[in-house]
Amino acid sequence: VGQRPPLGAAPASLDPADWPVFRAEAHAALDQALDGLEHVRDGPVWRPTPAEVRARFEVPLPAGPRPLGDVLADVDALIAPYVVGNTHPRFMGWAHGAGTPVGVVAELIAAALDANCGGRDHIGPIVERQIARWAAEAFGLPSTSSGVFVTGASQANFLGLLVARDAALGHAVRADGLKGGAQLCAYASVEAHGCVRQAMELAGVGAGFLRQIATDAAGAVRTDQLRDAIRRDRDAGLRPFLVVGTAGGVNFGAFDELLALADIAAAERLWLHVDGAFGALTALAPSLKPLTRGLQRADSVAFDFHKWTHVPYDAGFLLVRDPVAHKQTFAAPAAYLSRLPRGLAAGDDWPCDYGPDLSRGFRALKVWLTFQTLGAEAIGRSIEANCAAARHLAARVAASEAFELAAPVPLNIVCFRIKDDPQGDKSAELVMRLQERGLAAPSTTRIGGRPVIRAAIFNHRTTLADIDAVFEAAVQIAAEISSDFATG
Ligand SMILES: Cc1ncc(COP(=O)(O)O)c(C=O)c1O
Repeated sequence: VGQRPPLGAAPASLDPADWPVFRAEAHAALDQALDGLEHVRDGPVWRPTPAEVRARFEVPLPAGPRPLGDVLADVDALIAPYVVGNTHPRFMGWAHGAGTPVGVVAELIAAALDANCGGRDHIGPIVERQIARWAAEAFGLPSTSSGVFVTGASQANFLGLLVARDAALGHAVRADGLKGGAQLCAYASVEAHGCVRQAMELAGVGAGFLRQIATDAAGAVRTDQLRDAIRRDRDAGLRPFLVVGTAGGVNFGAFDELLALADIAAAERLWLHVDGAFGALTALAPSLKPLTRGLQRADSVAFDFHKWTHVPYDAGFLLVRDPVAHKQTFAAPAAYLSRLPRGLAAGDDWPCDYGPDLSRGFRALKVWLTFQTLGAEAIGRSIEANCAAARHLAARVAASEAFELAAPVPLNIVCFRIKDDPQGDKSAELVMRLQERGLAAPSTTRIGGRPVIRAAIFNHRTTLADIDAVFEAAVQIAAEISSDFATG
């Protein structure tokens, strides 16, 4: 081991010493990435990371260099095979987008530009503004609505709740906190995502003051019960401030009647926030757009470009009707963020004024490139195709001996279970075997308190042949499981 060279003796730049060699290796890396996407269907959906691979990630910090080509060989052997698998057409778990080749190019360009989009007068925030206008156009909100990229809908819902809290209490709450005054209460359905509850915790309002209202058979919030709950809280001296509508519930894709919620929110002078993590994007699909009726009246909308628009992770977004209310919830007067009349520090509206992130990447670029190259119509058609595939799967489940449907299928999510499985343990076993054999990756959820199999078709690569292959594998494995459970 040699001595460290004296400062100044070795070049300090981290750029390659030999650009042509690096360029060739970088081109190979791009080819490797695109090969993975082009041939994704040929491999397993998922495989567990073996102990010997895990051990390769428990080594000390590398002090010296290795050639990029060698490290890329490690990526090929140790990383790429063991990712979650959501680019695969038979990945059907949770609510994952599937990525696109143009997304790969966009990430590459964004990394090369390495723009910090927290603020300052440059093209990054201008592109971000364009994305807010496109989202407002798609959802029917005013073009003056403000928008900000965040990691995901969990964060977007949290920020939306903070804007609603400020709208109720005044921006002095930022300095004074929640002390004194009536206790705030918010309302959402029992189908609302857990991040709404968590947002109440994080905002200091208290999850105990999120009223989770029952739903009807279709999964829409019972508006009669919502009105009753608001009245009860007012009678008890509490302060209702927020209704959270769900556009596409995480369990099976339920939609609240957003128009009815908008009427209630207007009559009760409450903020209407819509969690449309994936479901709001049905606004891009003509045959599904009616589900989002009323979305145009929301005060704020949280959604994810990394879900049904397949922009690479991560690309959550919060859209707010009133840009002033939005800005005053977050803008901070720090000296080092002072604006100047000209130059790089010019401009009144920096993204860091609309959320808590100061350093932030150029997420807007990958959304812009995705819509520019694919067009909104193709994305809408792929959303419609996913819903058609879900209806196909639901029909096969409904007609089968082995399975029964566990919930309605209004969108792209099919919840079903093995018949004669009161505890849901056979259904959970089926999901694990499908995943472990690399055949498919559905997930599980609970419907009516019982674990069920949940196949969420979010992937633009999924064909009806994939659905049939997954269904037939499931039938076969269900039979295996029944016989295994019978013999103990
Ligand atoms: C309805 C709904 N809301 C919120 C979220 C959270 O989104 P994210 O995972 O991007 O934070 C999800 C995630 O699936 C969701 O389905």
